[in-house]
Amino acid sequence: MERMCGIVGYVGPRDSQAILLSGLARLEYRGYDSAGIAVIDRDGDLDMRKRAGKLQVLRDDLSAHPMGDGTTGIGHTRWATHGGPTDANAHPHLADDDKLAVIHNGIIENFAELKAELLAEGYTFRSETDTEVAAVLLGREFSASRDLVAAFRGVVARLEGAFTLLAMHRDEPGLVVGARRNSPLVIGLGDGENFLGSDVAAFVEHTRNALAIGQDQIVAITPQGVEVTDFAGGTVEVEPFEVVWDASAAEKGGWSSFMAKEVSEEPEAVANTLRGRLHDGSVVIPELDGLDDLFAGVSRVIVIACGTAAYAGMVGKYALEQWTRVPVDVELAHEFRYRDPVIGPDTLVVSISQSGETMDTLMAVKYAREQGAKTLSICNTQGATIPRESDAIVYTHAGPEVAVASTKAFVAQITALYLLALHIGRVRGSLSPEVSRDAVTQLEAIPAGIARVLETEQEHIEQFARWMGDTQSVLFLGRHVGYPIALEGALKLKELAYIHAEGFAAGELKHGPIALIEPGQAVFVIVPSPRASRELHKKVVSNIQEIRARGARVIAVAEEGDAAVLPFADEVLRIPLAGPLFEPLLAVVPLHIFAMGLATAKGLDVDQPRNLAKSVTVE
Ligand code: F6R
Repeated sequence: MERMCGIVGYVGPRDSQAILLSGLARLEYRGYDSAGIAVIDRDGDLDMRKRAGKLQVLRDDLSAHPMGDGTTGIGHTRWATHGGPTDANAHPHLADDDKLAVIHNGIIENFAELKAELLAEGYTFRSETDTEVAAVLLGREFSASRDLVAAFRGVVARLEGAFTLLAMHRDEPGLVVGARRNSPLVIGLGDGENFLGSDVAAFVEHTRNALAIGQDQIVAITPQGVEVTDFAGGTVEVEPFEVVWDASAAEKGGWSSFMAKEVSEEPEAVANTLRGRLHDGSVVIPELDGLDDLFAGVSRVIVIACGTAAYAGMVGKYALEQWTRVPVDVELAHEFRYRDPVIGPDTLVVSISQSGETMDTLMAVKYAREQGAKTLSICNTQGATIPRESDAIVYTHAGPEVAVASTKAFVAQITALYLLALHIGRVRGSLSPEVSRDAVTQLEAIPAGIARVLETEQEHIEQFARWMGDTQSVLFLGRHVGYPIALEGALKLKELAYIHAEGFAAGELKHGPIALIEPGQAVFVIVPSPRASRELHKKVVSNIQEIRARGARVIAVAEEGDAAVLPFADEVLRIPLAGPLFEPLLAVVPLHIFAMGLATAKGLDVDQPRNLAKSVTVE
C-alpha cells in the first residue's frame, strides 16, 4: 500500500524520459524510497525501469543501461508503508503481458479480496502491493473492451479506498489515462502536449495552464486534447487555473538545502500571504466575498490541523478570540473526529494544511461537514483535496514547500489566520478601526522583521548550533503566544536532529517539568516583550531565574533592547520589536534556524528526515 507518492504523466512530441525524470525530481518530496518510469518507445514497445532508493539510483541505472525512449510515459516516486521499498514493489506495475503499465498513489482498501478473485482466475503477481492488483484488474478489463478509458471505468467501480491511478497501454500509444478518488491529480495543458501530475510541481517548468480534476473523475490525455468524465462516463466541466509558482520557485536555487531556501523565504511567504488583502487599515479577503452572513452567524470556531499547522492554529486562537470575540478551540485533526464533538451549523471549522492532502485533516473536515458545520480551509497548495472539500478557502501564498519540515508555510499560516481574524472581526463589528489599523501596520512590518532576524542572527545561531552539536536533550519554554512557539521549536528539533526535545508552557514548569532541569540542560526560553505586558515578561524572567538556579543553560529569544534577561541567559537571540500577538512570527525564526543548524552539524539530511514524508496521506 502506498502512503504518499508523486505521479507524473506525459504525452507529446518530445522524448518523455527527461520530462518524467525532471517531474519526479520536483515531486521527490512526496516520497523518496523508490522511483520508476515507463515509456512507450518509438518502436511501439513498452519499456519500464524502477529501482528502490532515491531518484538518483534510478537515474544512475538508466545512465548505465539506457532504455528506449518515446513520447508517452508515466513516472512515480514512492513512499511505502506495506510492501517494503524494494525494486519489485516500486512502480510502475505491469500487467496484460507487460503491455500495460500502472502507477498509483493511495490505498486500495479491498485489495486482498480483489487479489483473491484474480488469483482464483489464474493471474499471478510479482509484488506485494495493492497497486499491482489494480494493474491486473485493468489488464483484464482491457482485454475485454480493448479501450483503456472503458477499462478504467470498470476498474474504479471495483475499488474501495483512496487512489490516483495512471496507466498507459502499448496498444493505445499517445494516451495516458488517470483516475482519482480522495487523492490528488491535476492536468497541465501544453501546446501539442499534455501532462498529469500529483501537483503542479510535476509540470510547472513546461506549462502554467492547469486544470483541477474533481473527485471520482477519469481523465484521458493525448497530445491534442484532454477529456474528463465522471466514473459513470458522463462528461464533466473542469476548472482551469493558472499556476502562480514558477519553475525556479520549486528548485533549490543555490541553497544548501530546500529547508535553508525555505527559511530564507519566510519574509516573502508572509508578504505574499498579505498581498491584496490589506485595504486602508482593514482586511478584506476577496475569496471570502459573499460570506458575511456566515461569519456573522458563527458562535464558535474550531481549528483543526496536525503538527506544525496545529501550532499555527494555537497561535491563531489568541488573535481570533481577541478580534472576533468568538470562542475558539484548537484540536489535533486525528483526535477531533473520534470524540463526538459538539458542532452544528453555527460552528466554523477552520482547517490548516500546507499540503492540503493530510488525511487526518481531510477526514476531520469531511466529518465536520457531515455534522452540518461550515468549513474553511487555510491551505498552501492550489487544487488540493482539503480546500476542494471545504466551503471556503484562504490560500497561504508561501510558494512550494519541498523540505519535509514546515517552515515558511508556518509563518504564512499564522499570517492567514490573523487576516481571517481581522476579516471576521470587521464583518462582525467586534473590531475597532484603530485596533484593525494597528494590526495591519504590525503585519506589514513582519516581513522586514523576519528579514532582520535572518540578517543579524542566522550566522550566530548556526555557529551556536554547531557548538551544541553533541547535545542530547533540549527544552523549550514559552507563555501565551510563545507557548505554541516552544512546541514548534521542540518539534523541529525532534524531526530534524533526532534528539529529545520538549516544549512547555513556562507556567507549567513548577507543576512537574522543572524536575528535568539538571546542570547543563539546554533550555530555550521565548521571552515576551516587556513593553507589551510587564507582568508576563516578569513571570518569564522569574522562570528563567528558577531554571538557571538549577544549573540550566539558558538560551533566551528576546526582544532587542530587553536587558532584563542578560544577567540570567547564557545566550540571547534577538528579535525586533513587535506587538504581543505578532512576536511569534519573529520568535520562531531563530528556532527554525537552530534546528536546521544542529541537524546539519550532525551531518543529517534536513530536507528528508528519516521516517517522514512531506504530507501524510493515511490516517
Ligand atoms: C513538521 C511538519 C508537520 C506538518 C503536518 C501537517 O515540521 O511539517 O508536522 O505540519 O504533517 O501537514 P500539512 O500542513 O501538510 O497538513
